[in-house]
Amino acid sequence: MLEAHLTVIAEAPIGPINRRLFGSFVEHLGRMVYDGIFEPTHDLADAEGFRTDVIELVKELGVTAIRYPGGNFVSGFRWEDSVGPRESRPQRLDLAWHSTETNEVGLHEFSGWLEKVGSELMLAVNLGTRGVQEALDLLEYCNLPTSSALSRQRVENGRSEPFAVSMWCLGNEMDGPWQLGHRSADDYGKLAAQTAHAMRSLDASVELVVCGSSSASMPTFGEWERVVLGHTYELVDYISCHAYYEDKGDRASFLASGVDMDRFIETVVATADHVKAVRKSDKTIDISFDEWNIWYNERFEKIDKIEGLDNWPTAPRLLEDVYTVTDAVVFGSLLISLLKHADRVTSASLAQLVNVIAPIMTEPGGPAWRQTTFFPFAAASAHARGIALPVSIACDTYPTTTFGDVRLIDAVATLDESEARVSVYLVNRSENDEISVTVELSSLTPTTVSALTLADADPDATNTLQHPDRVGLTDNATCTLDGDTVTIVLPPISWTEILLSI
Ligand code: AHR
Repeated sequence: MLEAHLTVIAEAPIGPINRRLFGSFVEHLGRMVYDGIFEPTHDLADAEGFRTDVIELVKELGVTAIRYPGGNFVSGFRWEDSVGPRESRPQRLDLAWHSTETNEVGLHEFSGWLEKVGSELMLAVNLGTRGVQEALDLLEYCNLPTSSALSRQRVENGRSEPFAVSMWCLGNEMDGPWQLGHRSADDYGKLAAQTAHAMRSLDASVELVVCGSSSASMPTFGEWERVVLGHTYELVDYISCHAYYEDKGDRASFLASGVDMDRFIETVVATADHVKAVRKSDKTIDISFDEWNIWYNERFEKIDKIEGLDNWPTAPRLLEDVYTVTDAVVFGSLLISLLKHADRVTSASLAQLVNVIAPIMTEPGGPAWRQTTFFPFAAASAHARGIALPVSIACDTYPTTTFGDVRLIDAVATLDESEARVSVYLVNRSENDEISVTVELSSLTPTTVSALTLADADPDATNTLQHPDRVGLTDNATCTLDGDTVTIVLPPISWTEILLSI
């Protein structure tokens, strides 16, 4: 059996883990909202029409903040359509997903749902087809107590207290040619700076996210961040990163997707710090990794895409990827990457939450269930708290076409002093080999240990409507503790959480 030796380096912590790292994303897209979280005719719907079974699963997932309402959708969205009496709200065409938006669920309803699931609202403004004034109007509507026309309108619409939204995204993926209102870095940077300045003049406490690249493979990546931050550095708090991964028939490279995420984060940090140096600024820009996941985008482009002047369905089945064990292991390795960079990635949004590239699936009138990716997220959100600790890793490498030689194991640890708990997260990227791993805790003096592993004899196994509980986390009985050293066997293609009390 292969062997690996890991050491948790408690003396040099990475940094505190912001709870917003376990955020998610709800876009008006496909069956995310309608027939996802909202299905008034369902037996389990509450008085507001929200599915209580979905609410329970979102709570179990442990989602801390939710980006809303898009995504590509936001770049054509008129927020005013989504407030006021439901019967007067217009139906609109959503050009991003070629669908009809009924506006049955809007800002007030979604905010009410967030209270039920216990998550923070993170809003995106439309800088695609709209601009500074509409962003200001929405901010005034949301955050002002009662002293203005728009805040009074909010009160008339049933919400006396402000929504008090702290995090705001200045548009979405404005570097992407597919985006309504797509602009050059220079043009977007100027618009984002004007919008940020205006929003701060209204509410100085807002935290602003400027759009970074839609992916590290965009032709403008790197230069986009430099130019946009050149315009906005002193006005914003975060720059966004978005990344989706899929198995394009090269499983070895797919299993190493975390390497790409590591490089992506480190490059954006370097670029932001370059702008900081040039500007001689004291301020540090953090990353809001506000879209990340596995997404079989090629499937969408070839099969799901809706077209036709007379074809604008409501809540169509779009982006309903079914995730395998392998997908969940890669997904878990992306969580490890985020935690390894917790000093600079202080907000992240799993894209998305229900039905649309989602950890939770629903059937209209039927059940809701957990996809394979649900499990690493729920485990890490529950236990990866406090501070992130680096782990030194001595293990074999394997060859990949995309990333060269990659370590078979990646890992990170967390220390939650309030719970006297250390958690260690590990991925085994080998397709065929078990690995016997030792983890040294040195100064942390553990007393008990347990471990949960996601793996399967069939790496393509999934959870479906017919077999909703086929895949899950299982106790890893090989895990033992001897003094300050843990020993565990990691199955091939697996993700593991080790929990230690100290
Ligand atoms: O999450 C699906 C889409 O991916 C979002 O709408 C967009 O921002 C990204 O391209």
